[in-house]
Amino acid sequence: MAGQIDKISVKTGKISHVIYIGNRILDSLFEKDEIRNADKVAIVASSRVFEIHERYIRSAIQHMNEPEIFLMADGEENKNYRYAEMFLEDFLAKGLTRQSVVIGIGGGVVGDFAGFLASIYMRGIRVIHVPTTLLAMVDSSIGGKVAVNLSAGKNIVGSFHQPSMVVTDISFLHTLDDAEFKNGLVEALKHGLIGDRSSVRIFESNDTDSIRDDKVIAQLITQSASFKAAVVEADEKESGRRAILNYGHTIGHAIESLSGYKDITHGEAVALGMKVKLAVSKKLGWLTDDDIKRIGVIFKTYDLVRKDVSFAPDEIIAHMQYDKKNAGGKFNFVLLKGIGNPLYNQQIDEKVLYEVLEESFG
Ligand SMILES: NC(=O)c1ccc[n+]([C@@H]2O[C@H](COP(=O)([O-])OP(=O)(O)OC[C@H]3O[C@@H](n4cnc5c(N)ncnc54)[C@H](O)[C@@H]3O)[C@@H](O)[C@H]2O)c1
Repeated sequence: MAGQIDKISVKTGKISHVIYIGNRILDSLFEKDEIRNADKVAIVASSRVFEIHERYIRSAIQHMNEPEIFLMADGEENKNYRYAEMFLEDFLAKGLTRQSVVIGIGGGVVGDFAGFLASIYMRGIRVIHVPTTLLAMVDSSIGGKVAVNLSAGKNIVGSFHQPSMVVTDISFLHTLDDAEFKNGLVEALKHGLIGDRSSVRIFESNDTDSIRDDKVIAQLITQSASFKAAVVEADEKESGRRAILNYGHTIGHAIESLSGYKDITHGEAVALGMKVKLAVSKKLGWLTDDDIKRIGVIFKTYDLVRKDVSFAPDEIIAHMQYDKKNAGGKFNFVLLKGIGNPLYNQQIDEKVLYEVLEESFG
């Protein structure tokens, strides 16, 4: 039986949609008009999530109009253009029309993939996201960015395609392992650092166990998702302020790429990226010792920052040269001037960055 359902309304341009957040809410929300008025429903589900939650998902979709289940093999490597083409051919073979709807059930990989399929099938049909990882609940299901990877790089082919509804059912999190959970915590903490002060307080008043409590995590997700939704509403296509959501990611991506996308998770890389960025702000006099200590306690409580890894500053900088976020010899960063106060388009000298990287990893 579904209990309380939180609702966040997201308005982009002239249209808006709702993010529903609650525990075991799939059945009730799958009866909404967004789904009822579709002639066919394509469920694009993570094969792993479907294997674990098949009974729950099947019972939630039993009254839908002609649901067709398309299982997506898990893994970032499958979020690619060729695999997408196979799904699109299948959509056509199964008779999906412009009045059909795609429902993506899974983590960010499935959400990005299902959203991408919906954005181009018959010039665009509706998509509903059912995020099942914490990262997808607080981050990737919000904002309308959909994409697939090319062999040359991640998320190269994509578009903005807002969902018509997001159904965030926290019961999925009960089967999510700690490493994946931590990836989501890092993104929620990122939102905290760049302005979502209530989330920082949730982090501060909990620990690794209590934060997984249904009530606490629902509160964190609602808080964090509302924050991201507000940033997206103000700048949907990232022509300005939405860039603050990249906080810690430029260095994080360099670390992931340096590690060959192995041995370090996305969350661990971004946490290290945020730690370096905090140190840059400290060096500029924009954060105090107390600020650094305060965030350090959160990093430690949730074990977010790896201490057993080290990277040469030159190598990190070399990998950052390929990052599109950098321009003209200087590094274009989002930096904090006080916790909760991010400034984007900050040009930082390579020398300053080098020194901080050396202090962080030397
Ligand atoms: N569109 C955006 O704005 C945006 C933002 C951030 C990240 N992303 C994308 O998100 C992707 C990463 O997403 P992710 O971190 O969710 O990873 P993911 O989708 O790969 O999921 C991680 C793993 O968790 C498993 N899983 C998912 N839900 C589960 C559950 N409830 N129980 C047990 N296992 C479960 C999956 O099968 C997978 O093995 C990347 O492709 C990234 O580019 C997109």
